Amino acid sequence: MTGLDDDIDEVLLTQQAISARVGELAAEIDRDYADREPLLVGVLKGAFPLMGDLARALQGPAQFDFMAVSSYGSATRTSGVVRILKDLEGDIAGRDVIICEDIVDSGLTLSYLLRNLRARGPASLEILSFLSKPDQTRVHVPLRYHGFAVPDVFVVGYGLDYQERYRNLPYVGTLKPGLRAG
Ligand code: IMP
Ligand code: MG
Repeated sequence: MTGLDDDIDEVLLTQQAISARVGELAAEIDRDYADREPLLVGVLKGAFPLMGDLARALQGPAQFDFMAVSSYGSATRTSGVVRILKDLEGDIAGRDVIICEDIVDSGLTLSYLLRNLRARGPASLEILSFLSKPDQTRVHVPLRYHGFAVPDVFVVGYGLDYQERYRNLPYVGTLKPGLRAG
């Protein structure tokens, strides 16, 4: 079995850069929620490394819950129809919620989640997206916290997958040509 590294064309974000940025985001959250206890909602599966790193970097009280969503349609392009595969365990009414996503591309997944969670009556609702792509033409979603902008290329690592692989890479990179169909 060869290493995952062999499939990577270009490293866009190193482990060190990611770690430093997640530390900064956690510090921002600590500052903004100094007198509140935020509920971080991780969107599975892509946000799981981010959630672990945020959890260890946050110094104030915080709670964690998870949702899993999937969009119908092709594997690498979002169709706009979002289905909840796993819902939150807890009630978010009156809570200060931060949705944590791996990447915003078309914005369709996050705009669906915003609408869905807003209807449950949280005290506040913000979005943290680790990455964003420039093509946010279809739907605009306001990112309160944002890790990095990446070019409009398919990226893997740090939670992001291609056909369920590469989520465990500690950095973000592109796949070598020929490894990805379409
Ligand atoms: P959106 O609904 O188009 O914003 O798509 C967001 C979702 O598409 C993310 O949560 C990812 O699961 C997936 N996605 C978008 N771009 C990439 C990528 O470059 N690599 C891996 N997954 C991606
Ligand atoms: Mg995903």
